[in-house]
Amino acid sequence: MITDEHVFTEILNQRTNVLQDSLALSVIIPTRNEAGNVDALLTALHKAFDATPVEVIFVDDSSDETPQVVEAAVKRFPELNIRLIHRRADQRTGGLGGAVLVGLRDVHAEYACIMDGDLQHPPEIVPVLLQTALNKRSDLVVATRRSEDSQVLGLNIVRNLISKGLDRIGRIFFPRELRGVSDPLTGFFLIKVKSLKLDELRPKGFKILMEILVRHPNLRRAEIPFRFGERHAGQSKASVAEIWKYFSLLWGLRFGEESLRFIGFAAVGLSGIFVNSLAVYVATDQMHIHYLVSAWIATLASTLWNFSLTEAWVYRSNERNKGRPRRLGIFFGMNLLALLLRSPIIYLLTTALGFYYVLSNLISLAILTVLRFALADKIIWGQTSSSSPVSNPELTVWRPLMKKSYSYNIHNVVTVVSEGELPELEPFQVTSDILEPTISVKIGAPRAQKTSDEKGKYLRYRELFGRLGFEVGIEMGDQINVVASPALRLSPHVLYTNVIEPLLRWTFVKKGYALVHGATIAFGNQAYMITARTDTGKTTTLLKILAYQRRNSDQAAFLSDDMTIVSSDGTAMTYPKPLTISYHTMRAVNSDTLNFKERLALPFQSRIHSRSGRRFAFFISKTHLPAATINMIVQMIVPPPKYFVNKLVPKVKMTRKANLTGMFIIERGEEEIVSMKNTEAMEVLLQNCEDAYGFPPYEDLKEFLYIQDGIDLRKKEHEIIHQALGELPATIIRSSTMDWWSQIPTFVNNDQVSHDITRALEVETTPRGRYGRETESVSV
Ligand code: GDD
Ligand code: MN
Repeated sequence: MITDEHVFTEILNQRTNVLQDSLALSVIIPTRNEAGNVDALLTALHKAFDATPVEVIFVDDSSDETPQVVEAAVKRFPELNIRLIHRRADQRTGGLGGAVLVGLRDVHAEYACIMDGDLQHPPEIVPVLLQTALNKRSDLVVATRRSEDSQVLGLNIVRNLISKGLDRIGRIFFPRELRGVSDPLTGFFLIKVKSLKLDELRPKGFKILMEILVRHPNLRRAEIPFRFGERHAGQSKASVAEIWKYFSLLWGLRFGEESLRFIGFAAVGLSGIFVNSLAVYVATDQMHIHYLVSAWIATLASTLWNFSLTEAWVYRSNERNKGRPRRLGIFFGMNLLALLLRSPIIYLLTTALGFYYVLSNLISLAILTVLRFALADKIIWGQTSSSSPVSNPELTVWRPLMKKSYSYNIHNVVTVVSEGELPELEPFQVTSDILEPTISVKIGAPRAQKTSDEKGKYLRYRELFGRLGFEVGIEMGDQINVVASPALRLSPHVLYTNVIEPLLRWTFVKKGYALVHGATIAFGNQAYMITARTDTGKTTTLLKILAYQRRNSDQAAFLSDDMTIVSSDGTAMTYPKPLTISYHTMRAVNSDTLNFKERLALPFQSRIHSRSGRRFAFFISKTHLPAATINMIVQMIVPPPKYFVNKLVPKVKMTRKANLTGMFIIERGEEEIVSMKNTEAMEVLLQNCEDAYGFPPYEDLKEFLYIQDGIDLRKKEHEIIHQALGELPATIIRSSTMDWWSQIPTFVNNDQVSHDITRALEVETTPRGRYGRETESVSV
């Protein structure tokens, strides 16, 4: 029926090329089944433009005879240079908006006017829009239905209300971008085509102007009121689906396409659980099938359901049709395998524990989901750290399962070689082999303690589940040999925090260093230690100082956030573990550096790893429950929100070491600044150090760790700390508003500041001078 529109378009293109220079405007009209409107519209446009040369591009998605009607009109309106782009049924991506984009890519004039094909947009306004753009030098002229002089006849009460509601919602998402635009939802506007980044547009349905406004916040805009009339003929294509598309457009624009897919995935998953439960119920209760068999039937049903929805919605695309059988196969395989694991759970819950079988089925689904997530997250999409040398993707996939070693060299004082990754030590990771590490960590089965002669030399900590849970064996000696249970490898933060860090603490002491619980920041060569009780706001304070200094004077450098290595000569050495942040911290530092997935996870992670979360964990540790194992599993599933400082404050200054110059103790309370006696300061510091540890298995390990060869290392640690920090001025800063971050830099030694200010000034003036000289020498 439809003639070969390609040939047709080409002939017209040749003709318009001749005219192109003199074209005043391109009018783009998206059409879908508007056969009854085309003639009237063209007649009105012809009248409006008189002899002014314009082109009219129809981008048509019709199934009626609209293309034929347009074709027939071409000869009757030669001044309008009519072109038709007809999209086949399988080419109609983006709906109305997609059609407009196709038109925009094909215009010959400098300006394009987008208008509906049903005469609700009065053609006589089009020249006015163009004149306005030329007079006001605007990039965008919006024909508005929502200004005082506008009229809306073409919307009934309900649609008008909906339209206003959608407008409101749009403004919630994009208050800034839509300020000063009275009608971002109108389909009638004029645009300077060159001002658009067409490749960035991803239209979805009707509201293409909304996307243009959001993606191009710097357009020079103007508005013209108009009377939104009644439809000339035919029917409106507005629908509930369009409202959905609008929401998905808004969401995608705000949070990225990727996030939309995630939501789609979650929604499909939830609906699948519902389908599964329903099927189990119907098969068991209505068809009297045994509940375990029903579970198999239900899984077949929900698998098909999830698969079709995922294909249709989440990953909708035409090219993907090909691999479909294969994907279906994999998907089925996965779910059946999961069912194999779920069946005994369902059986156990229903028959042994007397649960209602629908509930058992649900619980088994939940357990499998958690397990699947943990596995998928850890193994299939394993969090590959950027600095690790692994580049072979196949290796990356299986890395956590391989017996690969990670080597760490901490300031040439302590070295660690571990079969489990220790993410906290990543900045110290080295690629070269370390033959005789101070601490060696192997994954395997810790052996039992031999009888009394091994006391003080070897210790095994185990809980209820033995090797399946948290279990470690530690052998002291010139080299410390740790054997950790395989499960610990999957919970690397726990392996580090609850096993390696306490070990490191006393290993450092043996070598003449102390691992002190305090954040340290350096101004030039002067290091200041900030200490506080957990949850006071130390990390936030530190980040705020660094971010502020980074923006302004660039003086402060990061040494450490949680632990600092100090030596008895008063040197502070960097210990750049990732910082554990909270939702709060992120808000306080007002940083945009986390990606969508990280931001989404943060509130959840920070709940679990919050103070109340920790308190709950401590409560468990007082009971007879296997607290370390529980902690290990929780952190396996929800890792703590830890990020390296340079991710939180991009390009932050870092330094390796500096001389300890002062100490701050920050506290919440009535505003007050008091200097503190050294002895007291030491006490606070040591108390805070002790607070840092304590979670199981620390109580069971501590004596074994600090009494070595009959020597009490605690004394030595005190000595080191006293020598390093004992003579330093210590200041307590109490604040009710937590503005320690703005106070601390003012305490920094005056000499240093003036020195640094002069240096800062030098930096500011010299480049210009040098630049001047260079240009001179070039020109000579
Ligand atoms: N090519 C193409 N493809 N054109 C389409 C499609 C499509 O999928 N859907 C609709 N159109 C065309 C119609 O043929 C018409 O020319 C124009 O787009 C507007 O469609 P209507 O069906 O008349 O929509 P409406 O009048 O309900 O909506 C109007 O007001 C909305 C705001 O309330 C339009 O101006 C919308 O753009 C506007 O968002
Ligand atoms: Mn309409």
